[in-house]
Amino acid sequence: MKLFLDTASAKEIRTMWELGILDGVTTNPSLVAKEGRRFDDVLREICAIGVPSVSAEVVATETDGMVAEGRRLRAIHPSIYVKVPMTPAGLRATKILAGEGTRVNVTLVFSANQALLAAKVGAAYVSPFIGRLDDQSEVGIDLIRDIVTIYRNYRFSTEVLVASVRHPVHVLEAAQIGADIATMPYAVMEKLVQHPLTEIGLARFLKDWEKVPKG
Ligand code: E4P
Repeated sequence: MKLFLDTASAKEIRTMWELGILDGVTTNPSLVAKEGRRFDDVLREICAIGVPSVSAEVVATETDGMVAEGRRLRAIHPSIYVKVPMTPAGLRATKILAGEGTRVNVTLVFSANQALLAAKVGAAYVSPFIGRLDDQSEVGIDLIRDIVTIYRNYRFSTEVLVASVRHPVHVLEAAQIGADIATMPYAVMEKLVQHPLTEIGLARFLKDWEKVPKG
């Protein structure tokens, strides 16, 4: 399973990249806005770290604008995946961009049928937002189960990128289902690393080691 950071912070990305556990990055306009810098500069800095997959979202709402933006973003760095919203215009843009060899991440997916359509037009990734479904009293992880089943039934090559992840149990459940990727905020990835019993166990081992005769 691939683990992505959902952030536009180069500092956060560098930290996880150095741990060796990071496979990619997803950004969105809200995350880029937090950085207070030009989008292209942020993207170049992230790509220079070496992460092999960096999703960058278009903000045009019509097909032509999405395609033009997608081509421009793709040209910035070979690691860039163009993120396109799940709308009729987005489906048309995905088909065109994917046909040209651009890897497209279809985002803002909230139903299994939307995911089916994204796969049919050649998306490289589909991004179902599970946390936002949980917020609406729907069980977000159930959507992942449905999409994984549908993609397996028809052998679609589109990868399921679990998005809007809010806590480690989302990651665990996504892994149990067999989702390809989970993207999460830095704070969630940090929690995957930590366990209080690891800390306690290490402290005890080091304390006991002091009693071992040396020399
Ligand atoms: C994914 O690509 C999105 O950027 C992200 O996961 C949205 O998460 P949120 O619902 O926490 O904003």
